[in-house]
Amino acid sequence: MMARGPSMELRPASDSDLPAIGRLHVDAFGPQEGPEVADLVADLLRDETALPRVSIVAEADGVLAGHVLFTAAGLDSDAASPVASILAPLGVASGYQRQGVGGLLVDRGLALLIEQAVDLVFVLGHPSYYPRFGFRPARELGFDAPYPILPENDAAWMVKALQPGALDRFAGTVACASALDRPEHWTE
Ligand SMILES: CC(C)(COP(=O)(O)OP(=O)(O)OC[C@H]1O[C@@H](n2cnc3c(N)ncnc32)[C@H](O)[C@@H]1OP(=O)(O)O)[C@@H](O)C(=O)NCCC(=O)NCCS
Repeated sequence: MMARGPSMELRPASDSDLPAIGRLHVDAFGPQEGPEVADLVADLLRDETALPRVSIVAEADGVLAGHVLFTAAGLDSDAASPVASILAPLGVASGYQRQGVGGLLVDRGLALLIEQAVDLVFVLGHPSYYPRFGFRPARELGFDAPYPILPENDAAWMVKALQPGALDRFAGTVACASALDRPEHWTE
């Protein structure tokens, strides 16, 4: 479905958006998981190891409808390291879900990462949502997550090549920014 009319605007997140971004993720992920997601975003936004970052908000009539964050990643291997990024988190406010906002944010983020010559982008997320953007199961393509993913959740750990041939050139265990480098962020 298309995003609501022409009033949906995507723009880079600014420092002053942080409180509203936190509230957005609490709303999107709910009271159980949401506060942890909001804290993770705040931590990643001040984490120098997360650079370069892509942080985009969707705004509708002055209200934040969605937010996506991509942070730097690498590979723990002897081989040449790719320029890589991890998508986490993506949240769409409850009143705006299933209207295309998440899709707009992911598409815009991926376009910006391509401009930045990023080779690979990873996500741990809904296996029924991300394949529409070209994400594929990462483990069978040779990429392990920073922490072991339970075999039954293998399909949630996904990768997308942003440069031709990138999936053939690289393999290994993904290294993430410090703020993401905790086992609790890698359960699905
Ligand atoms: C998941 C989420 C980011 C999707 O964004 P969105 O703007 O609602 O989704 P879009 O409008 O871009 O896409 C709609 C599609 O996503 C699917 N979708 C929405 N939420 C989903 C979910 N939790 N799991 C799987 N698929 C989902 C819809 O079924 C729909 O699929 P269809 O096009 O085949 O009908 C959003 O619903 C959200 O923030 N949910 C709560 C937080 C969350 O779970 N975030 C983690 C993402 S890994």
